Amino acid sequence: MNIRKRKLIKKAMIIGAVLGAAAGILLTFLAAKKVVNSERKKLTTQIQNLKKENSKLNSAADRKESINSAATLSTKQPKNWELVYVGNDYPLDEKYKPKLTEVAEDRYVDSRIAENTKRMLKDGEEAGMKFYIVSAYRSMEDQKKVFNENMQIRVNEGDSYIDAYYNTKKVIAAPNCSEHSLGLSLDIVSSEYDALDEAQADTKEAKWMAENAYKYGFILRYPKDKEKITHISFEPWHYRYVGKEVAEKIKSKNITFEEYLGINKD
Ligand code: DAL
Ligand code: ZN
Repeated sequence: MNIRKRKLIKKAMIIGAVLGAAAGILLTFLAAKKVVNSERKKLTTQIQNLKKENSKLNSAADRKESINSAATLSTKQPKNWELVYVGNDYPLDEKYKPKLTEVAEDRYVDSRIAENTKRMLKDGEEAGMKFYIVSAYRSMEDQKKVFNENMQIRVNEGDSYIDAYYNTKKVIAAPNCSEHSLGLSLDIVSSEYDALDEAQADTKEAKWMAENAYKYGFILRYPKDKEKITHISFEPWHYRYVGKEVAEKIKSKNITFEEYLGINKD
């Protein structure tokens, strides 16, 4: 083979190698583009689905809010204002504020339940009970403070923020979601044992309340072994006004307010 021919073959081999590499790069580029495009499509679909879900949730929240709006509470439900349901998924209109009456030093309730509350406390005291009201009406600002303080304690003890949030929600309703802001709930404990723990249930005051509160229109709102329904831990101190008739039904059937109203069914 002469030198010219050899040079030509070498040149052809170099050109071939360059073309091969370029084709390889092009194919890799096209394949990568295809993957990027299909990922982009997937992400676009996911974003669209999330947007749909979000707008569904927003309109559900709007509906719930309008059910509990101040206007609804004060004008459209005059007969059963005492049955308004407020909870973690059932926020109260942030402008709602009931007319209040003081039932113990610096403790207020919705004026419509003041008489029954006072009578219950008086009858209990005449029967030898020594009550202390830890909390009654709480504004939404107060509720936010209580919630944040409880959550901060958990964070300080090592909970992540997300765990602290969910653990707090089992014992304190989220701001705007507490019956205390309706003015229809009171936390009543024994003045000789004022801790908010399960042992409160063994005090004579808690036993008297569990036995008699229904006569005045109150129910034990978060009973033991009903956490799966109420989504709140056992609170032997938290009483909610629902009216005498409903309180008697709830007590005699041993059901929760959720079961009575037919809500929170998982
Ligand atoms: N502890 C009750 C759930 C409340 O915060 O309303
Ligand atoms: Zn309470």
